[in-house]
Order: sequence, then structure tokens, then C-alpha cells
Amino acid sequence: MNEIKVKIPAVKASSYTIKIGANILESLWEQIDSAFKEHNKFVVTDSNLVSAGHLTKLIGQRDIETYVIEPPGETSKNINTLTSIIEAMEKACLGRDTVVIALGGGTVGDIAGFAASIFKRGVPVVQIPTTTVAQADSSVGGKTGVDSTISKNAFGTFWHPAAVYIDVALLDTLDDRQFRAGLVESVKHALIADAKYFDYLETNIDAILQREPDVLEKMACFNCRIKASVAQADPMEKNQRRMLNYGHTVGHAVESASGFDLLHGEAISIGIIAAGLIEIEMGLAKTDRLDRVKSILKKLNMPTTLPLALTKGQILGIIRMDKKSVNKWPKFALIEKIGRIYRQNEQWAHDVDQQIVEKVLDKLYE
Ligand SMILES: NC(=O)c1ccc[n+]([C@@H]2O[C@H](COP(=O)([O-])OP(=O)(O)OC[C@H]3O[C@@H](n4cnc5c(N)ncnc54)[C@H](O)[C@@H]3O)[C@@H](O)[C@H]2O)c1
Ligand SMILES: [Zn+2]
Repeated sequence: MNEIKVKIPAVKASSYTIKIGANILESLWEQIDSAFKEHNKFVVTDSNLVSAGHLTKLIGQRDIETYVIEPPGETSKNINTLTSIIEAMEKACLGRDTVVIALGGGTVGDIAGFAASIFKRGVPVVQIPTTTVAQADSSVGGKTGVDSTISKNAFGTFWHPAAVYIDVALLDTLDDRQFRAGLVESVKHALIADAKYFDYLETNIDAILQREPDVLEKMACFNCRIKASVAQADPMEKNQRRMLNYGHTVGHAVESASGFDLLHGEAISIGIIAAGLIEIEMGLAKTDRLDRVKSILKKLNMPTTLPLALTKGQILGIIRMDKKSVNKWPKFALIEKIGRIYRQNEQWAHDVDQQIVEKVLDKLYE
């Protein structure tokens, strides 16, 4: 047998800038145009963003190739939409000198990022996130993908954006339930990484709910710094990124057991309480810490107990199938105190006995 070694040179390090402001959408096109002078532009958005007037604000009267995802939301986050986008780009005779511009929430951002990563073996993507989830989480970090008929994000790539522009005024048109649920990722960021940010959220909760732009801008800065620093330290999700999974092990199971009746953030709210109860069971916390966390989630109108319709068995069954499980049981991200992830033996996620999780689930019905 012959053997030939092929050396692949280290990939060049790269960086991108996140710009944050209020009412900046109308001025963005010029910036994008000057940053991508040589590129053809292709916009991906969804029909709600068109009816909210955001697409027009972005492109003005310019004649820009655009793909509008319809219906909006998770149901369209599949391989068929991806194929239609790629084929629309081909029909528009676009080549590798194209930049994809994603104007939308996490659904649009994930699909458009995925399309950009595979179109002609990869073209840049610019993210313009329009939801609390996307501005705090999905637009930064480079994870892209679509769902299969069996599971979420079954197809996907790591494809970092070439730039991110956050206009917090875009959140004005987001409905209240989506707006509030998306804020749970901000609470999560504060819990795992920044006690001052948690204080800020507590102090400014009314202004946040009133969508005051200066407060939302400040939040976006906190969120992006945290998300970016974790993604930067662990771009391919080998270990440290697991801290972002805080509240998500039980949360994902609850989301899925609810048949996606609960929004992601609503389920993660329950998952964060579960993590807090696990911390108490494991002697990592006293109850007063959990009371603070519960109080802020309640102010966001988030559920903090399990709906009776979801059984413990159902939830445990789904936890066992968690994609991060080894021997059918996942590790759990936990915090040591507000603002600091718990680390032991260089690990960012930990073994928790199944009995503890069962006990915690029982408590979550109370
Ligand atoms: N890539 C990542 O790292 C990452 C992280 C978190 C979540 N996600 C993904 O993000 C998706 C969820 O994202 P989402 O919560 O933003 O949902 P979404 O993109 O589906 O948006 C929710 C709804 O709000 C509408 N909408 C969006 N912005 C609006 C605005 N400004 N005004 C009015 N309506 C608006 C959308 O049309 C949609 O109907 C999931 O698929 C999830 O897997 C990805
Ligand atoms: Zn999440």
C-alpha cells in the first residue's frame, strides 16, 4: 500500500466587526457597499420583515436580488428552502464574488449563513439580526444550518459572518412574546459570564421591556462581547462553548416535549431554573441565588415551572437522546456564582447523577 501525506496549511486567522446602534438600518447599505465594493449583493429575508418595512429601509429603491422566505419561522428552516435560495442565486447568475446579506431573526440568519457557506464553495455573509435571539446570540459565533425532518440543525456548517450590524430599533416591530422569550439568552449570558451584566438587567428591566434604545444598545454590547469571547476561544465548539449551553440540556428537552408549543426562550427559562436546582442539590449554591434568577425570569413573563402536560419520563427520555450525550447521559453546564461558569478539571460541563435530575424535575412541577 502506498501512502501520500497531504499537508494543509493552517487557515489564516480572520476577524469581523460587530456594529451596534439605533436607527442605523437606512445608512447600512452604503457601508456594506463600500466594504464589499467588488461583490454582487444578495439579500435573504422573510415576509414579516418585508411587511414591517425593514427590507425597504435597507435597500431603498435599489434593484437588489432578494429571496423572501415564506412562510417565516422555523417551518421554513429546511433543506428545501436552502435549495431554493441557492437556485435563486444561480438564476441571478451570481458567482463567487457575491456577498449574502441576511436580514432577519435566527431562522433567516441560520439559513442564509448556511447558503453562503456552501454556494460555490463559500461566499461571505453579512448578518443584520432583527430579533432579541438573533441580536444576542445567533448572529455572532458562526453556527449555521437547517433542520431535517428528524432533528433541529441536522445540516450545518461553521461559517463566520464577514460583518454584523445590529440595529436595536428593528426590535420595535417584534411581537411581545418573541421579544421577551429572546431576552432569556441575555439572562443566560449574564449568569455564565458577567455579574455586572446581571445587575444591569435587574436594574433596567422596565426600560428593557419598554424597548428603550439606549438600554437595548448597551445589552447588545454586553451580549456580543460575551458571545464573541466564547466563540473566539472555541470557534469549533470543542469544549468552552459548552458554557453557552447553560439551561439548555433540560431546556431543549422541555422545548421538544412541548411539541415546540413553548418558544425556545420559554423552555430555556425552565431549563435555567433546573440548572439552578441542580446547583443547590450539588452544594454549589444556596436558594437565594435561584430566587434572584427566578425573579428576573418572572418579570420577563417566562415560565419557571414545568407544564403538567409534560411528564418526567418524556423529558428524561429526550435528555438521554441529547446530541451531546455520552452513554446516553449528557453533561450539564453549571454556574459557580452569578456571572461565573463552574469549572472543574478544565471541564465546562459536568456529570450530574440521573437521580439528582429526576429530583429536580419533580421540584419543577411545584
Ligand atoms: N446559529 C446560532 O448560534 C443560533 C443561536 C440561537 C438560535 N438559533 C436559531 O435561531 C432560530 C430562532 O431565531 P428567532 O427566535 O430569531 O426566530 P425567527 O427568525 O423565526 O423569528 C421569529 C418570528 O419573528 C419574525 N420577526 C423577526 N424579526 C422581526 C421584526 N424585527 N419585526 C417583526 N417580526 C419579526 C419572524 O418573521 C418570525 O415570524 C432557531 O432556528 C434557532 O435554532 C441559532
Ligand atoms: Zn438558546
